[in-house]
Amino acid sequence: MRKSSLDRENGNGGRIAKFPLGGADTGGVDAVGVLDSRILPDSEFIAQWDAVIVETSQKDRLLSQSILNFTLREKVNRANLPLHGLIVLHGPPGTGKTSLARGLAARTAEAIGRLGQFRYIEVEPHALTGAALGKSQRAVRDLLGQTVAEQAERGPLIVLLDEVETMAADRGRMSMDANPIDVHRATDAVLAQLDQLAAKYPHLLFIATSNFTQAVDGAFLSRADLIENIGMPSPEACRAILQSAVEELARSFPATARIPLDADFDRAAKQCVGLDGRRIRKLVIAACALNKQTAIDPNKLSASDVLQAAKQAQAESLSVMGEQS
Ligand SMILES: Nc1ncnc2c1ncn2[C@@H]1O[C@H](COP(=O)(O)OP(=O)(O)OP(=O)(O)O)[C@@H](O)[C@H]1O
Ligand SMILES: [Mg+2]
Repeated sequence: MRKSSLDRENGNGGRIAKFPLGGADTGGVDAVGVLDSRILPDSEFIAQWDAVIVETSQKDRLLSQSILNFTLREKVNRANLPLHGLIVLHGPPGTGKTSLARGLAARTAEAIGRLGQFRYIEVEPHALTGAALGKSQRAVRDLLGQTVAEQAERGPLIVLLDEVETMAADRGRMSMDANPIDVHRATDAVLAQLDQLAAKYPHLLFIATSNFTQAVDGAFLSRADLIENIGMPSPEACRAILQSAVEELARSFPATARIPLDADFDRAAKQCVGLDGRRIRKLVIAACALNKQTAIDPNKLSASDVLQAAKQAQAESLSVMGEQS
């Protein structure tokens, strides 16, 4: 199951970033394929990192690898210790990959700010490969060879390649009928640019996400310094995610703060096992929408509403899986 770029709830709705000229340095980059750009660390990204509940060891691994990219890469010979400056996060939709990638960028800048001002660029691969036939390769070359290189000249830079399978499509699996030669060339261009950039800029890190790793080119994956699978949440994580969603509601509707104390909340948390983190957070909203009175005043939400919404979410997820198999 794949999602369209329009589904993203943390981005700016798929628009190309535009920033006013002059004034304070906001890190603004105005270029085709750049969805977002900013100076790091950024409190919104830190909040996204904190909101994703995964094993602490996994967050530690990601952060250590990311920091190492900046502390080690410039000091070692690439021929003997080949660090490419690429971390790949993959896993099912809605498991927190994009949030973790953004948060990782912010946490890295926070940890090693002594290296200078960190910049961040988020690439929207769909904007590059959606171009007319023959244009993708040029778009990729312009973005990586010019925009990214220019930003990397200015200091430490972290680039998010979200849903990278669009940009680094597996050339081995492609049929020339279904996938235009243009995409093939775009993947070649990505690999060539990555190698050049890695050699030239030791303070540059790419973080790529994908929920469809089979579609990502093998040569791209082999360049990754770390590949992390972000899996479905554990039963404990499911409960914690549901609780965090209710707590968010309780910040504005305080009567809902007692919901996690109810036995039905435990039952609801058990129903969440098998759902992704996005679905679990959304089911609290679905619970509020179960009847008009709760929608008018969410303070009326009960644990049994949450349980009912969890059962519905579970049933919907099973029926979607049934349709797909
Ligand atoms: N393990 C988790 N713990 C807490 N919240 C989570 C978790 N996984 C996902 N979420 C929440 O789900 C929402 C979607 O997360 P995000 O966009 O990062 O997922 P994704 O893996 O990039 O999805 P996709 O593959 O569809 O792009 C966010 O609000 C995030 O906080
Ligand atoms: Mg994502």
